[in-house]
Amino acid sequence: MSDNETSAGIGPTGVPIEETPDSDTEVCSREGHLGASGNALLRADEVTAGYLPGVSILNGTDLYANEGELVGIIGPNGAGKSTLLKAMFGLVKITSGSVVLRGEEITNRKAHELVPLGVGFVPQTNNVFAALTVEENLEMGVFLRPRAFKERFSFVTDLFPVLGDRRAQRAGSLSGGERQMVAMGRALMMEPSVLLLDEPSAGLSPAMQDEVFFNTKQINQTGVTVVMVEQNARRCLQICDRGYVLDQGRSAYTGPGAGLIDDPKVVELYLGTLGRASL
Ligand SMILES: Nc1ncnc2c1ncn2[C@@H]1O[C@H](COP(=O)(O)OP(=O)(O)OP(=O)(O)O)[C@@H](O)[C@H]1O
Ligand SMILES: [Mg+2]
Repeated sequence: MSDNETSAGIGPTGVPIEETPDSDTEVCSREGHLGASGNALLRADEVTAGYLPGVSILNGTDLYANEGELVGIIGPNGAGKSTLLKAMFGLVKITSGSVVLRGEEITNRKAHELVPLGVGFVPQTNNVFAALTVEENLEMGVFLRPRAFKERFSFVTDLFPVLGDRRAQRAGSLSGGERQMVAMGRALMMEPSVLLLDEPSAGLSPAMQDEVFFNTKQINQTGVTVVMVEQNARRCLQICDRGYVLDQGRSAYTGPGAGLIDDPKVVELYLGTLGRASL
């Protein structure tokens, strides 16, 4: 690394998002990122948000997802990945910046207003009703449009046949991987155009993790835009079209998923030991 290459320096393929473009490097300025996001389905611009007054967790975070894209968000623990998804889904208050869906501003719109607009969210934890059956969980997903149940149930069980086989089983008695399918399936019942997934592979065995990544890709291939937060950097970047590295509440790097995997600086600077271990 040369002396003038700071921690905001670039890797061969990942590009940092900065205020000021640097002509010597492949820097993507904020303006450049904003420009590229012109036709995005979902866009977060300079979002500042947090849980307590005066304490920001997101400090001007940018992100966009084009229609049909699979976008991954990686970064160290506490970087604000979950907070970003929750802020876009109206669960954490945004104090400045904006979130735009299909050109319409949705900043601080509540989750129950966003679901009918086509936004689905699968939280990191507690994402199924353990005491309810698989079928009841899926019914909860579509309670706003009960007449759509049959058609959506068959869409979800085509994607996840095991949920059809286990429709009468209580979700709490399923394996972790199956529960994750129920959680994703429930969000899919409302036919979202964009699905926000928070660490769907967390806590699963390696074989089940593979299945979750496969399922996520499959969901995306049905035409659903996916924004996925993941600790498992390599697998996430392998399947996503574009990735973001979030660091201290800011989008530090973005680039094609496959490019970020090979970017040593992304690994070294933003993922550290954890990144090296999972890469
Ligand atoms: N409900 C909450 N109230 C107050 N602070 C919170 C709350 N949830 C998260 N935080 C804080 O916000 C920061 C970012 O948390 P967040 O959960 O967004 O990180 P993350 O990148 O998703 O981390 P992880 O990889 O561990 O899931 C952390 O410092 C965390 O302690
Ligand atoms: Mg998280």
